[in-house]
Amino acid sequence: MAIIALVGNKGGAGKTTLCVNLASALNETAPTVILDADPQRSSLQWRELSDNADAVSVLDAVDDLPSAILTARRTYGHLVIDCPPSVHAEQTAHALERAELALIPVQPSPLDLWATVHIEGRVAAARGRNPDLRAVLVINQMEPRTNLSRLMREALSEMSLPVADTAIRRRMTFRSAVLEGRSVLDLGSRGRAAAVEIRALIKEVLKR
Ligand SMILES: Nc1ncnc2c1ncn2[C@@H]1O[C@H](COP(=O)(O)OP(=O)(O)O)[C@@H](O)[C@H]1O
Ligand SMILES: [Mg+2]
Repeated sequence: MAIIALVGNKGGAGKTTLCVNLASALNETAPTVILDADPQRSSLQWRELSDNADAVSVLDAVDDLPSAILTARRTYGHLVIDCPPSVHAEQTAHALERAELALIPVQPSPLDLWATVHIEGRVAAARGRNPDLRAVLVINQMEPRTNLSRLMREALSEMSLPVADTAIRRRMTFRSAVLEGRSVLDLGSRGRAAAVEIRALIKEVLKR
């Protein structure tokens, strides 16, 4: 059983994109549910586009995330929580107090990375109640054919939270899959490179 929360302090970082793809990959190993705790309900919208009955389940957890987690734990092997784009939102606090792993997508820019400093404080506060909480930054929308710049490396080295070795590249397939209500794992050869990244990230962050 894994409870993973996609957390961040701004929209557009890739929480929902990673949420639906990571959950779809986990769903291949154990029944998995996405708890959509973001009032924008993007994960729910994504699921409504799908015509695949076997696709990962998505439940509305905006109003009462704690009871949604309690209920879902009885039925599902893995829970993936899509949080609102603010670490000050109550749903984010609930998620951090109950998850074993918080994944924080950030774009590969020092400005975006520095914007995550508020998250470190929230993670530290949540550890008061959830001492085993792990939190990992995930570089998302990495540009192909560019390495991380020197500035970015300096910014990364200043972070107190660890950064996943696996970075997720900016790929059109991540966008088109969402439009089709699918995950990149369902796109065959079109999604293969993206699927490799998603599986590599799971392998890296869920290793114990
Ligand atoms: N790795 C990626 N490659 C290409 N586009 C991406 C990637 N990750 C996110 N996007 C796009 O960036 C935008 C914001 O992503 P989204 O997952 O909605 O972020 P959040 O949920 O944090 O607000 C969306 O248009 C999404 O399709
Ligand atoms: Mg979102």
